[in-house]
Amino acid sequence: MNTHFILRGFGRYAPERVMTNADLEKIVDTSDEWITTRTGIKERHIAADDQAASDMAYEAAKVALADAGMDASELTHIVCGTFTPDAMVPSTACRIQEKFGIKGQACVDIAAACSGFVYALETARGYIALNPDSKVLVVTSEVISRRMNWEDRTTCVLFGDAAGAAIVTAGEPGEGPEIKDIRLAADGSLGDLLTVNGGGSRYAYKLGETVGEEFFVQFQGREVFKHAVRNMCGICETVLKDNGMVKADVDVLIPHQANWRIIDAVGRKLEIPAERVFSNVDRYGNTSAASVPVALSEALDTEFVKKGDTVLIPTFGGGFTWAAALIQF
Ligand code: ACO
Repeated sequence: MNTHFILRGFGRYAPERVMTNADLEKIVDTSDEWITTRTGIKERHIAADDQAASDMAYEAAKVALADAGMDASELTHIVCGTFTPDAMVPSTACRIQEKFGIKGQACVDIAAACSGFVYALETARGYIALNPDSKVLVVTSEVISRRMNWEDRTTCVLFGDAAGAAIVTAGEPGEGPEIKDIRLAADGSLGDLLTVNGGGSRYAYKLGETVGEEFFVQFQGREVFKHAVRNMCGICETVLKDNGMVKADVDVLIPHQANWRIIDAVGRKLEIPAERVFSNVDRYGNTSAASVPVALSEALDTEFVKKGDTVLIPTFGGGFTWAAALIQF
């Protein structure tokens, strides 16, 4: 018997504080014009000083559970995608479980950078395939502002903080949005093109040592751009072909919201008209693993995505990792 993987509810959370391009002009040598034309970003949310990844994940997860009509105690697994966890140990997933006041669930963090949500969805599918009674909270949360070098204009203008969540269970076709297929990929040989090295076991700090630039997000933008567009398009073509579909079968494209030029390039290469490509990067910036569920949840709330739509979701991030999910709404 084929298992059908149903998305039962969606949620998103963005911190209250909004930082505009004009605000950034006061911090680094940049301009609204440069940021807008290069990235499409106009503003981003920034977490409060006392907000960690699990705090924001908890908020998004509560919304997703309410949307699914479920109580947290029904969950069997919590899978959290993040590259800005609360701590090395315990996992952010365990912290989320603690916030809900529940016990016993399997809790695990996924480190796949901006591909984290689709990697986490595939992990959920694995748990459900092994035990169809599984009810999985997939949540991604990023406090990238903590890993931003606010003196580096080439990186600090691009990112924002947010969290997004979905609940995945087994079910019958038509019961809700169905994950039809997922493809995951990575190329570790290109890992040095996008890094957050500081604090890892290869770049550990000694007691009392101040952090260096390696503590922050560092990347080679042009290289990232090239690989992102090529690999997101490639994996989309693969997942469509494997499912006997063509580009014209896609109703809505929701790519990882890295920047508008990447989103636009992927849409054009996949021949999907701009009016069917969802983007909210202007209001969030790049929120890494959180970008896809935040976008999905907004696309549903605004009816950009409607019942019956076939939605294709390509992602790309540090690792390099990339992925694509095909969802039938
Ligand atoms: N404000 C003003 N000027 C700037 C800024 C800024 N914020 N940042 C860079 N510049 C300057 C540079 O110093 C450079 O000046 P120079 O010519 O005098 O040396 C000039 O602008 C051009 O810089 P480039 O880095 O070549 O700019 P580019 O056109 O490549 O755009 C960008 C940079 C937006 C990062 C682009 O490379 C890109 O979109 N990359 C992919 C996205 C990305 O890397 N995202 C990171 C996360 S990965 C992911 O989510 C998939």
